Amino acid sequence: MLKDVFMALSKNQLLTSAAKKYGLKLGAQTVVAGTNVEDTIKSIRELNAKGISATVDNLGEFVIERSEALKAKNSILEVIEAIHTNGVDAHISLKPTQIGLDIDYDFCYENLLEIVAAASKYDMHINIDMEDYGHLQPSFDLMDTLLKEYNNVGTVIQAYFDRAEDDIEKYKHLRLRIVKGAYKEPIEVAFQTKEEIDANFIKLIEYHLLNGKFTSIATHDHHIINHVKKFVAENEIPNDKFEFQMLYGFRKDMQIDLAKQGYNFCTYVPFGDDWYAYFMRRLAERPQNLNLVVKQVFNK
Ligand code: FDA
Repeated sequence: MLKDVFMALSKNQLLTSAAKKYGLKLGAQTVVAGTNVEDTIKSIRELNAKGISATVDNLGEFVIERSEALKAKNSILEVIEAIHTNGVDAHISLKPTQIGLDIDYDFCYENLLEIVAAASKYDMHINIDMEDYGHLQPSFDLMDTLLKEYNNVGTVIQAYFDRAEDDIEKYKHLRLRIVKGAYKEPIEVAFQTKEEIDANFIKLIEYHLLNGKFTSIATHDHHIINHVKKFVAENEIPNDKFEFQMLYGFRKDMQIDLAKQGYNFCTYVPFGDDWYAYFMRRLAERPQNLNLVVKQVFNK
């Protein structure tokens, strides 16, 4: 019930604009690294000092104005330069709808190409985040075209989709992030129960760990993390074949512990003024995250 409310709120255009105008509020500063590049680099340095790398997301999605998409592209190019100049351990995550997929496919491709080419100069990885089902195939198509020229690109496999097993087989030669899936999807295309999604998530992770290039296991679920730790030990999968990922601000102690135990750990660092939809999806996934908001409001 609460999940549906937060999901609906995440798509509200009016609230999205208001959030941009009034800055980080509602406790979002706990899970968003900052609104500018300077603060973000500072946050990455702090993570790096704890042995944690970062994947940086310039917040924004479902953009419908060309000027907004170009602004987002320029901002991502700025972050790429800042990561390189500051010598921090980080790469980029981006959403195709932020750089124009809902406006025009070719326009989006041109923007993406410019970003991938710029990152490639520094041997920096670009992860194409996966959004809702309607954008899934076009996002894979964008990546397929890019892969003809560049190899610093990877993407996300969402375990709730029926087709995820075929996709992971097709893209096993790539660095892949595997997640449960964050959007509300219909029964025609996606598993609906936690049991089915978790079972498929584990199946996909194990498959890519055994057959794939590099696996980013992105979850806050300690049951899954413990399962993976056991699986890699039993199958003698070396630590340089995988990493754990979590979102900035979540389970911070566990993030540090996993890094201390010698596992590669990468934190997803979102920044920028377009934080509203991202923040609402986090509340939808786990309404207990409201605790973060309450703490933020009272610990002034
Ligand atoms: P889930 O929310 O299912 O929780 C399972 C259990 O873990 C809980 O019952 C609880 O016991 C424990 N737990 C979870 N969070 C906790 C917390 N904060 N504190 C204490 N216990 C906690 N999705 C997508 O569709 N496309 C994408 O590109 C991405 N990218 C992405 C990157 C990264 C780095 C992450 C971590 C996640 C994504 N996601 C995503 C989101 C993903 O699909 C999923 O919606 C969320 O990670 C929530 O699912 P979890 O697996 O984290 O645990």
